[in-house]
Amino acid sequence: MRAIITGAATGIGRATAFALNADCKQRTGEPARLVLADIAAERLAETARDLRAEGATVETVMVDLADPASAQTVVDAAQRAMGGLDALISNAGIIRLVSLLDMEVADYDRYFAINTRPTWLLAKAAYPMLKEARGSIVAVASVAAHTPYPSLGAYSATKAALLMFIRQMAFDWGPVGIRANTISPGSTHSEIGVNAGQARPAADRVGNNPLGRIADPEDQAAVIAFLVSPAARHINGADIAVEGGALTQNVSAMARVTR
Ligand SMILES: NC(=O)c1ccc[n+]([C@@H]2O[C@H](COP(=O)([O-])OP(=O)(O)OC[C@H]3O[C@@H](n4cnc5c(N)ncnc54)[C@H](O)[C@@H]3O)[C@@H](O)[C@H]2O)c1
Repeated sequence: MRAIITGAATGIGRATAFALNADCKQRTGEPARLVLADIAAERLAETARDLRAEGATVETVMVDLADPASAQTVVDAAQRAMGGLDALISNAGIIRLVSLLDMEVADYDRYFAINTRPTWLLAKAAYPMLKEARGSIVAVASVAAHTPYPSLGAYSATKAALLMFIRQMAFDWGPVGIRANTISPGSTHSEIGVNAGQARPAADRVGNNPLGRIADPEDQAAVIAFLVSPAARHINGADIAVEGGALTQNVSAMARVTR
């Protein structure tokens, strides 16, 4: 398994790197080969060190994905390090709590530049390698792509747009053997989750969840690892909500009450 993972320094991206390595070892007897991209250089290096201790071959690329040139930088690094690509995991993202009334054009542009545009640019740059390997793409969206939450501003829109970019890729590129899917995490323990949690207290998020818990990054990583594995060979253009059933409740309405 040769994979690019963005936002791999922490949280879901880091957990995904471990999950892909473990899955690859189990399926093939060989560790994974990974190119990990993130803006947080020190923590990225720490993640790479921990993965190498588990046998993975790891290259790191320190990039600000808001820079449109960064996608080609990441894909070039993958070409150099691995000579091909089986999976592109576009996971990096930000949450800024700002209402639509307070949001400025610069906030809007930065939101889409980090949460939405890199998936398209990375996939476009990686297309030849993915086609060659009949590989797959997973983008990390959010339950917010499906329903509004208080104070998230354009976040929900950046993730909703991501769903359709991926469905378009699934439609356009399925014929050459590239699959593209999303996962939509619900509340997940991570640094971004701490930011989002400022909108809704943890107790509410647990209380509104049929399973009575907030996800761990590993819960998301397991589904990503499945989606890029041969077991998911007939899944294309799908979105898997990994949120314990919270969307089955009227979470938005409940959240509004707690605002
Ligand atoms: N944690 C949750 O509750 C939750 C819920 C729904 C969706 N998500 C999504 O999951 C994804 C991963 O988030 P997480 O929960 O692991 O949070 P996290 O903050 O731990 O991870 C996000 C990673 O993206 C990196 N990143 C941010 N901006 C970047 C940039 N400009 N260039 C390069 N890297 C950048 C960060 O350094 C970090 O390592 C995000 O897309 C997020 O929107 C998270």
